[in-house]
Amino acid sequence: MNVLGIESTAHTFSIAIAEKKEKGKEGNEKIEILSNVTDKYPSTLEGYIPWKLADHHASVFPQVLQEAITNAGVKSSEIDAVAFSQGSGIGHCLHVGFVAAKTISSTLNIPIVPVNHSVSHVEIGREFNCKTRDPLVVYVSGGNTQITCLNVKAKRYHVYGETIDIGIGNFLDVLGRTLNLEPPDAVGVVHAAAKGKQFIDLPYTVRGMNLAFSGLQTYIDKKVLPQVANHKYSADDVAFSSQETSFAMLCEATERALCHTNKKEVLLCGGNARNKRLQEMLRLMCEEHKVNFAVTSFEHSGDQAGMIALTAIKMLEAKCVPKDLTPRQRFRIDASCVCW
Ligand code: FE2
Repeated sequence: MNVLGIESTAHTFSIAIAEKKEKGKEGNEKIEILSNVTDKYPSTLEGYIPWKLADHHASVFPQVLQEAITNAGVKSSEIDAVAFSQGSGIGHCLHVGFVAAKTISSTLNIPIVPVNHSVSHVEIGREFNCKTRDPLVVYVSGGNTQITCLNVKAKRYHVYGETIDIGIGNFLDVLGRTLNLEPPDAVGVVHAAAKGKQFIDLPYTVRGMNLAFSGLQTYIDKKVLPQVANHKYSADDVAFSSQETSFAMLCEATERALCHTNKKEVLLCGGNARNKRLQEMLRLMCEEHKVNFAVTSFEHSGDQAGMIALTAIKMLEAKCVPKDLTPRQRFRIDASCVCW
């Protein structure tokens, strides 16, 4: 079975083709991602403007599609279904992916599979990076910060803790722009944090297993930036302290969820899973609790359509494909049926 996946929730437009392999000699069935082509809108000081992102996605669609099919080495007649990211995400961007999927579906006369973006971030990590099938998941990206795991009986992910305002990635992206870092996003914060020398005391907000980052952001804007202007602190110090504080919050909430659930593995996934310092802090916590720590690989952490195609294969095999295809800007991880 070959499935073509489309990802378009935010800054990245991507098309991938995944294949479910026949049972081999060992009796293992395997999903392989044959191609995974991405085109990311560059981050700038103005941030991401929805209509500009949508324009970008629509304009790169033909080329990305061509490349994905060529790299996979499959003919269009060999594609069995098309999947797209139904949400959560930015409305304008979701719509481009939805229209692209509808076009391919009607042209090739193949079924269409709507995929929950958050579920797919977790599924690709579970598939390729975990030792167990049932990890506690720390899902961190621009718009999402959740501590979750699969409730098999309920056939849904259960959210134990989450941000009650902005995602940790959004917090770091805005900080990158505020401090005028290069690039002006969370990656710029990583580079600056490595040069930070002074730790600045910042607000630390954990409520049970929930987190809040907007107060941290406001405090930096109102109280810390004036001290950067008068050279008491450097931008590197602010980046360093912000990472340490926000990641410590996330580790505390994750540790609480780990003790509560008794899971034997923690999986870190989502775009911000690429952050080495966050990985290090969570790994240390897991070592103390003698549980395995897994990280989604670099290529599969950020937004890409490989995770959409992979999740769609699981949905098709489990006959768990919703009929409603409407793009959903707010589509929580616990709103999708997961029956595989
Ligand atoms: Fe994402």
